[in-house]
Amino acid sequence: MIFGFKGSFGMKSSQLASIFLLTTVFSQIQAQVPDPQCPRGWVYNPDTNFCYYVPPFYTTDGVQWQLYSWTTAESNCQQFGSHLASIHSKKEDDFVQSLVISNVANLTDVVPDKTPNDPCFYAGAWIGYYGNGGLNFGSWTDGSLVDYNGLGQKLPNSYFWLVMNDESCQSKGWGYNFSTWLYARYVCKMPARNSLKSF
Ligand SMILES: *[C@@H]1O[C@H](CO)[C@@H](O)[C@H](O)[C@H]1NC(C)=O
Ligand SMILES: *[C@@H]1O[C@H](CO)[C@@H](O)[C@H](O)[C@H]1NC(C)=O
Repeated sequence: MIFGFKGSFGMKSSQLASIFLLTTVFSQIQAQVPDPQCPRGWVYNPDTNFCYYVPPFYTTDGVQWQLYSWTTAESNCQQFGSHLASIHSKKEDDFVQSLVISNVANLTDVVPDKTPNDPCFYAGAWIGYYGNGGLNFGSWTDGSLVDYNGLGQKLPNSYFWLVMNDESCQSKGWGYNFSTWLYARYVCKMPARNSLKSF
């Protein structure tokens, strides 16, 4: 029993050492347990009180990447009861960036039938913004306000947006493309279980 520490002050150091060991093991186990606020495989963000999900690069055969258009990505999120992620602050942006860290430059044959077949072209993760990057311009698929843009730059045309964080590809931050361009991942976002919000 490692809880209920009553009367434990007179313990020998060997006993204390074993308690610390147990506590360490326990916190390692706990790290793998899904947060009760989110479905299994989703990551809870206490700052926003939302849950986020990024699919793995390899979803079926474990060899080639699965690629998604922006439209397919949003419809997959909807099947999970979520939307492509919206991002509303630098802090939430940093959190999402931390979820999509990758290191793919030297992988081979993950997109064998694509031109170019360099993985760095496909390592982005779709987010839910469509627009030209201007504040209050365009829309998030979850209907939230367009009050933040990670590129910090207004484009002459509207595009569909993604994030990427891959040192080996020298890409970090927001990007944009046509909805039909295929990327290997996407970020879904849903309110946490204790939330009264429904987007
Ligand atoms: C990727 O390949 C380059 C050139 O072959 C090499 O210099 C680099 O160390 C490799 N990077 C990783 C992360 O393996
Ligand atoms: C879409 O992505 C490809 C690959 O990165 C790039 O060559 C192309 O310029 C992008 N399109 C736009 C409109 O940025």
